[in-house]
Amino acid sequence: MKKFFVLTLFPEMVMDTLSHSILGRAQKEGHVSIEGIQIRDYTTNKHLKVDDYPYGGGAGMVMQPQPIYDAYQSILPRAKGARVLFMTPQGRPFTQRLAEEFAKEETLVFLCGHYEGIDERVIEEIVTDEVSLGDFVLTGGELAAITMIDAISRLQEGVLGKAESFADESFSEGLLEYPQYTRPPVFMDKEVPPVLLSGHHGNVDKWRREQSLLRTAKKRPDLLEIAELTKKDIQFLKENGLL
Ligand code: ADE
Repeated sequence: MKKFFVLTLFPEMVMDTLSHSILGRAQKEGHVSIEGIQIRDYTTNKHLKVDDYPYGGGAGMVMQPQPIYDAYQSILPRAKGARVLFMTPQGRPFTQRLAEEFAKEETLVFLCGHYEGIDERVIEEIVTDEVSLGDFVLTGGELAAITMIDAISRLQEGVLGKAESFADESFSEGLLEYPQYTRPPVFMDKEVPPVLLSGHHGNVDKWRREQSLLRTAKKRPDLLEIAELTKKDIQFLKENGLL
């Protein structure tokens, strides 16, 4: 069982979003456990304040270190030695490779900030990894944590059924996924590629691989440079003037 702790001012946002569909089932079946920790529960002041003005001036508020540190201490007996991921655009870009790296961990702690930021001293004290969802700014770390928990959980044994298997999907070998079709055989005068109706598995596999290569070359040529390509793949790309 994989355990995720999320330190946040909005635990409901995290728990509610992850309670549906595959992640909801994964929790019910005990493959993953997700626990939101309300940072505000660990304030020591009577107004339950968790932020204050930035030293040196400037706009916005900064989250104070003490409630975050105490919230972290409260889970420490159950998260000893676990990596603590701070969601920030300053972090390492989150990729499938990083999801696979985090999926090896038994327990992960996510720290979500809000307002203008978090007091640097508590980041230095508890954070092991800074991770970014991409080069854009969110209003808080929760959506980043939710996204990462989803991507990491689906790699966990038992979370995806056979029907949702991830062996063939985009990025599994650094390539984009081939196009999919279902009934009807003709839609808006467009036919399903005949090879898919042929029942010839060898030809279907070959066609799909070639579609993956064509798509990746067209949509994400940067991925092609780092993909695991076979001799046949390289030959196909050269024949089509894509390499
Ligand atoms: N918090 C705000 N923006 C973020 C981003 N791009 N990635 C991760 N956490 C964030």
